[in-house]
Parts: sequence; structure tokens; C-alpha cells
Amino acid sequence: MYGVNIMTMNKKTIEDIEVKGKRVLVRCDFNVPLDADGNITDENRIVGAMPTIKYLADNGAKVILCSHMGKPKGEPKPEFSLAPVAKRLSEKLGKDVVFAADDNVVGENAKKAVGEMNDGDIVLLENTRYRAEETKNIDTFSKELASLAEIFVNDAFGTAHRAHCSTVGVTDYLPAVCGYLIQKEIAFLGNAVNNPVRPLVAILGGSKVSSKISVIENLLDKVDTLIIGGGMAYTFMKAKGYEVGNSLLEADYIDYAKEMMAKAGDKLLLPIDTVVAKEFSNDAESKIVPEGGIEEGWEGLDIGPESIKLFSDAVKNAKTVVWNGPMGVFEMPSFAKGTNAIAKALSEIDATTVIGGGDSVAAVNQAGLGDKMSHISTGGGASLEFLEGKDLPGIVALLDK
Ligand code: 3PG
Repeated sequence: MYGVNIMTMNKKTIEDIEVKGKRVLVRCDFNVPLDADGNITDENRIVGAMPTIKYLADNGAKVILCSHMGKPKGEPKPEFSLAPVAKRLSEKLGKDVVFAADDNVVGENAKKAVGEMNDGDIVLLENTRYRAEETKNIDTFSKELASLAEIFVNDAFGTAHRAHCSTVGVTDYLPAVCGYLIQKEIAFLGNAVNNPVRPLVAILGGSKVSSKISVIENLLDKVDTLIIGGGMAYTFMKAKGYEVGNSLLEADYIDYAKEMMAKAGDKLLLPIDTVVAKEFSNDAESKIVPEGGIEEGWEGLDIGPESIKLFSDAVKNAKTVVWNGPMGVFEMPSFAKGTNAIAKALSEIDATTVIGGGDSVAAVNQAGLGDKMSHISTGGGASLEFLEGKDLPGIVALLDK
């Protein structure tokens, strides 16, 4: 089995097929965050889907969009409806996007909406996870989805790690190719990891070592420098023999951290100071302590100023940087300095900067530096699995060139 970035180079794309006059089912990832009033609060995934939708509509296809939203667990639940996405898409495209409200997703209303389409029209189906078969990849629903169209395009990079009816099952029944967003994601993430302009620096953060083990293992041999911050760093500190107070600690992974440190040698940079607090709250009493200085009753919630300097210096000469996971509890302003400083450091260097994964994307946007990065991935779990070196089933299932 070869790596997904190589395979994707060999996958057929929307430009390899004739789409004029054809009904084209396009799987997007419109799983976007909504506020209490149903407003979309982050449009990255909608913006990412536009080039493929525009290309297909401009080239005379009948464009039938589908996606999941949240986890309605196989039942129609209005709070997970894709109706707000249809509205926003219409506004952004300056063109009517017909929303096929339908509790069965491919029920009478959806069939009617598709039946009435002219070339260049766009229809959005209801949340594919209203159907219980979707996440189990059960044939009945794959066939129903396929029955609406003549061609399948997968452009849902964010869901490419899921083998569901609308990402994989449907490819048993329709010729299946990839869209521009999947191509772009694989080009950035794949090149950054497998064919980088060096030096390559990877920055990993977030709370758990256990969820990043495969990423660390896959990246360690490829990078010139690996920076580890965030909650996962405390398990490494403990492995160095330091006490970590009430900080996040995965005791089962201390031996693993020791092994990784031995294997990585000078390549690995860990925090050399920490912002500690008395409790997990933005207003908690806090102070900066040096390496090994976390006392009982205190917990580490951010990297300190010396670590910021160390990490910022380490990326200064980098030509490629991949960042996944925040350096601290960035949702609390008192403990967002480390994460914001890394975002700022990346925004100032002359390098390809690739931000992969939900929290680091939110952090970069919160710092107002999103447009300073070379690429912000639309994948959370999918980009993580990609960085682990795994093949993504939604891409594997597409036709080879
Ligand atoms: C995501 O938000 O990571 C994707 O849309 C996949 O969603 P899921 O984790 O619910 O499958």
C-alpha cells in the first residue's frame, strides 16, 4: 500500500471527465459550526468547496451537493439541518442553491428537486446523517444516493477519513473522481510532510500524547525539528524526571515519552518554562516557573516566555512548518499567549506554513492571522490521520488516472 499523497496524484479529477449535461453528486464537508441563531461562525469549509462547485456549474453540470452536519445519529433533527448552508452558499455564489428539505435525504422532495434541474443548477440535499445507514456504509443508502446522479465527485477532505455511504459506498455505483479542495489539501499536506523544502519544522500541541503518538512517529524521521508544547508536553516533562503538579499527565505514556526523547535527540524541543495556575480558570492566580519548577497544587496551562523565544527562534529559518495543536488553553485569554505567539512567529517567516487540525485553525483565526498562513486545512481528524501517514478511504476509493 503506498501513501495517499502519491495515490492522489494518480486519482482522476473533475477535469478528467466530461461533466456537461451530467447529474454530478458532489460530497462536500459542510460540517460547519453554527451559533445559537443558526449563523455559520466559520466559513473555511464553505469557501474551500466553492472552486469545485463553480467549475461544475460553469461547465454545465447539474450539481447535486451533499454533506453531513454534526451527529444526528441516524434521525432527522432540525438543529442539524443543512438549510443554513444552502442559504449561505446561495449568497456566496450569487446564484440560487435549491435546498431539498427531505427527512429521507433521497426522498420524494429530493428526487423532485433533482428532476427539475437544468444544466448549471445547484441543489443541496439534507444532512446525510439523517439516515442511519450513512455512518455504517450500508448499501441501501449508497444506492439511493447514486441513483440521483451519473458521476460522483468527492471534495470532502474533512470527511475523507470516514468510510461512509456518501464518501465511499457511493463509489461502488458511480464513476468517482476528486474535486479541487481534496487536490489542494493533499498538495499542501503531502508536500509539507513528504517532499518539503527544508528545514522542515513540525509543531505539535493539544492535550493528549495518546492521540498524537502516530503523528509523532510518522513525523519524527521526516522533520528537522519537532516542537512539542501544549498539554501533551507535561507527560514528556514527567518522563524527564520533573514533577508536574496538577498538569495534564498521561501516566501510561511516560515510558513512550522516554523512548521518543531518546530516539529524537536534538531534534526535539520541549517547553523550558511554563505558565502555571492554581486552578483551571481564566482568572486563576498564575505565575511563570522554569523547567522543573511546577509545584504541587499548580497546573501548567501555557508555555512561558522563554519557551516562546525558543520555539519562535526554531521556526525563523524554517522553509516549511506544519502546526497541529495549541500550546496552551488558548480559549482562555490569560493562557493564550503561547499559542498566539506561535501563530505570530509563523506569520512572519518566509516559509510554507500549513495549519492542520481544528484547534490550531481556531487559534490562528482567533489571532487574526489566518490570511498570513500558506494553507489552513479544512480537515480536523482527516488532517491528523494524513499526518499519521494513513491512507484516507474517501480518497482511496476514487478512480485512478
Ligand atoms: C470533522 O469535523 O472533522 C468532519 O466533518 C468529520 O466529522 P465527524 O468527526 O463527525 O465524522
